[in-house]
Amino acid sequence: MKNIDWSTLGFHYTEPDYIVRAACHDGVWEEPYATKDKYLHLHVSATCLQYGQEAFEGLKAFRGVDGKIRIFRWRENARRMARSAEGLYMTPVPEELFGKAIYLALEKNIDFLPPYGTGATLYFRPLLIGTTPRLGVGPGRDFEFIVIPSPIGPYYPGKFHCTTFIVNRHVDRAAPFGTGHFKVGGNYASSFRATEPAHAQGMDCLFLDAKYHRYIDECSAANFIGIKEQDGQIEYLTPRSSAILPSITNNSLMTLARDKGYKVTRRHIRLEELAEMQEAAACGTACVISPIDKVIDAEKDKTYSFGKEPGPVLTDLYHALKDIQYGRAEDKHHWCEVIEK
Ligand SMILES: Cc1ncc(COP(=O)(O)O)c(C=O)c1O
Repeated sequence: MKNIDWSTLGFHYTEPDYIVRAACHDGVWEEPYATKDKYLHLHVSATCLQYGQEAFEGLKAFRGVDGKIRIFRWRENARRMARSAEGLYMTPVPEELFGKAIYLALEKNIDFLPPYGTGATLYFRPLLIGTTPRLGVGPGRDFEFIVIPSPIGPYYPGKFHCTTFIVNRHVDRAAPFGTGHFKVGGNYASSFRATEPAHAQGMDCLFLDAKYHRYIDECSAANFIGIKEQDGQIEYLTPRSSAILPSITNNSLMTLARDKGYKVTRRHIRLEELAEMQEAAACGTACVISPIDKVIDAEKDKTYSFGKEPGPVLTDLYHALKDIQYGRAEDKHHWCEVIEK
């Protein structure tokens, strides 16, 4: 076990011992291997540098209450990365190779897996880049798949707390027929001009649909969830949009919400509908659920408030998913791959 103060780790990069790499030339993938070298010898004209031909993922491994290791839904990340790859004319990483690389990265960095009870986890950042040198605009034929592990701290080191979001109508994250449903670097670089000013004000950015600026798209780099309660029926609402990333966390929470007998609805959600919701949150791998206390629509001089404390429905869903990830609850849907060591 590394001598790391797990309690002070944030969502920051901590250098692991090894990363894992595999190269692909003309459609043929080589075997993944572990290396201590964290630098690439990359041609200056590589398509990832020139034209942003790259995609990435994010997933976690947990040390459970029973001492076993659980990797959460890595196959879903592998499939989403394959869709991102196809979207950017890259050769997809075969699912089994993706899994092999994750397992190798875990094995070689096992001392970086935080102990149970710290709230910290081992995060994996799979990355796929185009390496063919090209000057003419077009895709390359050579790729590098890299898995970068890093232990990360609990998203909420103290109390499960709320975030304020501010609506931005002047920066669109992704167009309806753009690349928002792929996890590609360009989506993130281009949204910094909305997220950074929001962060400077101690808030996060709520993106609306790019065509009408009427419907909720995403909460910064996370999906949106709203909870409506009417006549004792709880409804879990989340946006349907071609421009948002299909979140694996949101998909899991929707399943758990259905298990609990809630109505689950995916549809266009008008911003003004926030006034009819009792709870709201952002969701994603990093935080599971990040409850929202307020959404500020400064241009319309309107604030939607959900209270200073996380609501009961989202708090319950948050614990339900974390209990599965840490082996404290039955994994009915077989989301975790369990390693007995
Ligand atoms: C834009 C965006 N939306 C949503 C998510 C949440 O997805 P997931 O739950 O798979 O982490 C992420 C994080 O990966 C993201 O970057």
